[in-house]
Amino acid sequence: MKQPALLSVLAATAFAFAAGAALAQSAGSVQSLRGADVTDAVPVEPVFHQEEQRFERAYRQQPPLIPHTIEKYQIDVKANECLACHEWSNSAGRGAPTLSMTHYVDRDGLQSETVSARRWFCNQCHVPQVNAPELVENTFKPFGQ
Ligand code: HEC
Ligand code: HEC
Repeated sequence: MKQPALLSVLAATAFAFAAGAALAQSAGSVQSLRGADVTDAVPVEPVFHQEEQRFERAYRQQPPLIPHTIEKYQIDVKANECLACHEWSNSAGRGAPTLSMTHYVDRDGLQSETVSARRWFCNQCHVPQVNAPELVENTFKPFGQ
């Protein structure tokens, strides 16, 4: 039983390597949504600090944009460095806004003392604010405009 399972894992790994190599070879010809070569860096202007500029929410339910860089903050199944500043029990000392109550409610509507698993991966909803050209042309207008 054990050996065939191991073999299929090895086969899958070999396939993944081969596919990865093929992808790396063809990367030069891949175009981004903006029509640029994927290897070209897109110039974006970071707007990290609240004092400089804080983007308005485009609609009431929008997760607020992050007004600071998040490059060095690790989020994975074991660690969440955002909580070092934003968890209700740490935020006062860090001068950071506390997570709102919605972040402590689980899928059954139960409130808890610790952040809900549904809200663990912060950057699933919150992204750092930047001035970047739009990916595809669109006619979106913020609420009320
Ligand atoms: C070192 C402390 C610190 C860490 C770590 C940190 N933040 Fe912040 N965060 C702040 C502070 C302070 C503010 C208030 C805005 C400001 O002054 O830049 C803020 C603001 C925000 C806001 C805006 C809230 C609002 O009401 O508009 C969001 C969203 C946010 N952070 C998300 C995150 C996420 C996601 C992470 C992890 C990837 C993170 N933060 C890590 C300190 C931190
Ligand atoms: C499923 C989407 C989602 C996830 C995941 C999520 N948030 Fe939020 N967050 C929101 C929304 C929507 C709001 C604004 C409405 C609200 O407070 O519920 C918000 C509000 C906030 C605010 C402002 C609170 C206030 O009262 O002004 C902060 C700070 C914040 N989130 C940080 C975080 C951090 C840090 C994480 C990760 C631990 C996280 N969020 C995970 C959707 C999310």
